[in-house]
Amino acid sequence: MFKKILTATAGAALIGGLAACGSSSSDGAGSGGSGGSGGSGDITMGFSQVGAESGWRSANTTSVRDSAKTDGIDLKFSDAQQKQENQIKALRSYIQQKVDVIAFSPVVETGWDSVLQEAKRAKIPVILTDRSVDSEDDSLYATFLGSDFVEEGEKAGQWLVDNAADSDVDGNGAINVVELQGTTGAAPAIDRKEGFAETTKADPTIKVVASQTGDFTRDGGKKVMESFLKSQKGIDVVYAHNDDMGLGAIEAIEAAGKVPGKDIKIITVDAVKDGMTALSEGKINYIVECNPLLGPQLMDLAKKVVAGEDVPKRVVTEESAFDQETAKQVLADRQY
Ligand code: AHR
Repeated sequence: MFKKILTATAGAALIGGLAACGSSSSDGAGSGGSGGSGGSGDITMGFSQVGAESGWRSANTTSVRDSAKTDGIDLKFSDAQQKQENQIKALRSYIQQKVDVIAFSPVVETGWDSVLQEAKRAKIPVILTDRSVDSEDDSLYATFLGSDFVEEGEKAGQWLVDNAADSDVDGNGAINVVELQGTTGAAPAIDRKEGFAETTKADPTIKVVASQTGDFTRDGGKKVMESFLKSQKGIDVVYAHNDDMGLGAIEAIEAAGKVPGKDIKIITVDAVKDGMTALSEGKINYIVECNPLLGPQLMDLAKKVVAGEDVPKRVVTEESAFDQETAKQVLADRQY
């Protein structure tokens, strides 16, 4: 994967202490749904969001909107409803409108080169935020701000390796894991799967017996878990690529008369408030954090890129992970 080579070789910066701020400003791009009127800043940013599929995404959208308003950036916002064609239309619309900078979170990794070349020809810098693209040509974007999704998957897998004895719920010597994958082709789905698989190799009793996409939604997680509960015997662990799918799985597990967190262990990624609440109640066992509050760093990078200043090619967000005890301690102060 080209982006992995990039991650290893490019100068990377680590950003911590992310914080939400301000209130919002927005405008449309003519595709995929959006709204509001623009601000009056010196910089106009066209932003194409993946959708509104999860609690994480809503928090990310709020952070971007609020930060644009705080920084006086005129934000044109478009919701792609998880469709790549909507994002491509939005990017083309931003190019036509001659915005100063484009930022987007790509719904899937591949298929972006043409539209990014169009932006490059129009001399409009592009910032990748949250998710990256898989492209041979890293001159097509100025920087990528977001999490290390492989590392998130590794943290989830490491917790299972470290807690293997407790996770063999039926005590038969095999830890049967079902995996709820994110959107097919999306960077976090690919990378979280890879990181988990790599780390859990250390324990041959851990086996992923079924793996299917729930599209990062609560409803998707619930439906896939319902079908796993019918088709798979002796499920010990659910590994969900985000909290929302894990929360959907909890509903399916409870409806099947089992106790989530006890009869079936649950590991998720994100650490949004609903997930952290379920963790503190004992229904989830471990959550790897993925921080959605990227707005302040995104606006900072945008101002620098528009001013022609150098920025790191990769800015990695700093993240943590929570077990049930630490979730209880931090829940009251959770911002999203
Ligand atoms: O790209 C980040 C992922 O997208 C989040 O983990 C998930 O909740 C969201 O839909």
